[in-house]
Amino acid sequence: MTGRYLFMGLSAQLERADFSRATLSGSSGSADAPDILITPLHRTPGEWTFRVVRGTQPPTVTDIEGVLALAQASFDGGYDTLACETADEIAHYTKTHKGVAMRVEPRADYQAQMWGAAAFNEDFILQSPEARRVLAELGVMSAQGVIRRKQRDKLIQIKNLTKAVYGGLRELDLKQVRAVDAACGKSYISFILYYYLHKELGYPVHFTGIDSNPRLIENSRAIQERLGYEHMAFHTSTLEAFEAGGAVDLLYSLHGCDTATDEAIALGVRTRAKMIIVVPCCHTEVRGQLGKNHPLRGVTRYGLFEDQFAALLTDAMRALALEAEGYKVATFRFVTPDVSTKNVLLRALYTGTPSKTARSEYDDLRKQFDVRPSIERLLGWQA
Ligand SMILES: C[S@@+](CC[C@H](N)C(=O)[O-])C[C@H]1O[C@@H](n2cnc3c(N)ncnc32)[C@H](O)[C@@H]1O
Repeated sequence: MTGRYLFMGLSAQLERADFSRATLSGSSGSADAPDILITPLHRTPGEWTFRVVRGTQPPTVTDIEGVLALAQASFDGGYDTLACETADEIAHYTKTHKGVAMRVEPRADYQAQMWGAAAFNEDFILQSPEARRVLAELGVMSAQGVIRRKQRDKLIQIKNLTKAVYGGLRELDLKQVRAVDAACGKSYISFILYYYLHKELGYPVHFTGIDSNPRLIENSRAIQERLGYEHMAFHTSTLEAFEAGGAVDLLYSLHGCDTATDEAIALGVRTRAKMIIVVPCCHTEVRGQLGKNHPLRGVTRYGLFEDQFAALLTDAMRALALEAEGYKVATFRFVTPDVSTKNVLLRALYTGTPSKTARSEYDDLRKQFDVRPSIERLLGWQA
């Protein structure tokens, strides 16, 4: 398809599994030129179709050539921008006097980036006899394959963390996955990830589970033996004291109590883990440090808001600390509040470029709220 306007890379964007929508708009925003919305309908490779909605007109269906023709015709008419959205970026095409200018805007916090996972099979757990066996060993399912009522939420968390890992792995070119489960508890996530990454996706894997509770470590070892999952090792240790002794591709920590999440992050940074995922738990440290003399005292005078703000501040400072250490951070809602109120997920991918801006924003927050979160000590930052 040729035409007056060159929409560079547009067909490739439309073919992406994570393409979510494209919007054609006119700067006049008139009723004669309402936004035209293009969304994917079928995505069989080689046979993409799209639904096109223009204002209140009935929707029509077209293919990639049709979308390109529509973009040409619209730019010839009253339209001058096209925004094409995929999980991790928005490609903006803008009409100029020379033709079309293109700019790509990354979507750091877009939910779909984590779930950037159109190919992720949501039901892999329930479809696979082996995954069901793992869940039965963990007590999430009965031996007959029925999900235990009290474990329903755990299953959602396991699925969502697997999905977050899957979404992140698509951004990294890994030949193997050396994973650390920081504050592993019963190691639910690790056993399922072992199955999923090794047996379903074919990665060579090694998992290291760490927890300060020796009883839980013994329990994990017993489950490992019953499952016959050989590439796993479990250690009783605090995260702060743990020496990884080798490269780490993926470090995750689900509901590490209070500053255990900071210890997990610091362990990930120390080992230069390529991906760090944390879902923090309680945030008592910073709440205890918040004084009365800060810019948001009108908010934190109310107990519930103080709790929520302390959690927000802690996690924002963790995200900034990770950026300052050379990670690109995205934040996601992990699960809905009916499953757990601890539903913030931070995902950090190593870029090797420390952000000075993030460090200075961290220092500003520290000053404004007069707090000293453990993360800075654990990262060895000078006061
Ligand atoms: C709420 S549980 C979460 C367990 C597991 N990640 C899960 O989601 O099922 C928190 C775990 O953190 C462990 N823990 C707490 N502080 C720790 C520390 N400083 N180092 C290592 N483990 C710690 C506890 O023993 C406990 O097993």
